[in-house]
Amino acid sequence: MSNTIQHLTADTARLAADEGTSPRSHQSKVVEYYASATAGYQDWSRNINMHFGYYQWGMNPFDLEAMLENTNRQVFQRLELPGEENRLLDMGCGVGATARFCAQQPGIESVIGITLAPSQVEEALILNSPLPAHLQPTFEVADYHHTPYEAQSFDGVYAIESACHSLEKDKRSLLAEAHRLLKPSGRVVICDGFIKGEQALNAFTQHCYDKTCEHWSLGHFPQLEETLAAMEASGFRNIKVDDITLRIFPSASFVPVVALRYLCKLLWTGDKNPQHWHHLLAPVWGFLLGLNLKRFRYCLISGEK
Ligand SMILES: C[S@@+](CC[C@H](N)C(=O)[O-])C[C@H]1O[C@@H](n2cnc3c(N)ncnc32)[C@H](O)[C@@H]1O
Repeated sequence: MSNTIQHLTADTARLAADEGTSPRSHQSKVVEYYASATAGYQDWSRNINMHFGYYQWGMNPFDLEAMLENTNRQVFQRLELPGEENRLLDMGCGVGATARFCAQQPGIESVIGITLAPSQVEEALILNSPLPAHLQPTFEVADYHHTPYEAQSFDGVYAIESACHSLEKDKRSLLAEAHRLLKPSGRVVICDGFIKGEQALNAFTQHCYDKTCEHWSLGHFPQLEETLAAMEASGFRNIKVDDITLRIFPSASFVPVVALRYLCKLLWTGDKNPQHWHHLLAPVWGFLLGLNLKRFRYCLISGEK
């Protein structure tokens, strides 16, 4: 881990210094959060998908797990993988729900998932065990700003609700690293909440934003226009933006119910673990932030090397 942190780019370090946050302490917070809070995601998703769900006409809007799995499918489809023997990298894999989904799709040779949290690697390996060996992704502790892999190692790279942990608003280091790692014509897909527009947020939205970031140990939600510019500057072409905010609504509407259930559990067991309370409060503030539809959008963006 400490090697990983040392490798943070000068840009990230500068940005963090500007904002008074050290990258080291920020990443330690992320690790600490997931070490305690990951188990709580079982209340959200049977397969521990740590993201929102993609609704499509014809789906049952009350089947949360199906919508969460459909996000995995949508990301996978946008990788537009060619032929057979594709190698994928999951930048910020959680406990590997998406990596396991991808590893079971046709045309996949291997999937590597990286996370900052060693506890998630342990958990992800346990969750792998029902799968036959050739369908198991591998998991490693690494920082997506600067990974240990050789250039042009992957046919597709994706980041689902993990880019928001980076301190950079334009995600330039993550994008530059994805570009380095991709083979020519490979695609990157980022699925996340984005802030649209460059003017300051109103006071209420800013408060919700700050609280969401604080409780989820986020750096910044990607700023849409700046991220697209950074994508282009990194060398990506054929950049596509899918605004899927409305498709996320049915799964987001589960937040109050799941949060209430989790609150009862915390109160009933007298749980005072601060990370568990962060895990409860983050989606509540995030839900309020998401109500500002003018400024907060949920998007799938992709680009080709
Ligand atoms: C909300 S979880 C999403 C997990 C997974 N993508 C999913 O959708 O189920 C965010 C993940 O990003 C990882 N993460 C945050 N910052 C990272 C970094 N700098 N490098 C690698 N992973 C990171 C966290 O460790 C965590 O696993």
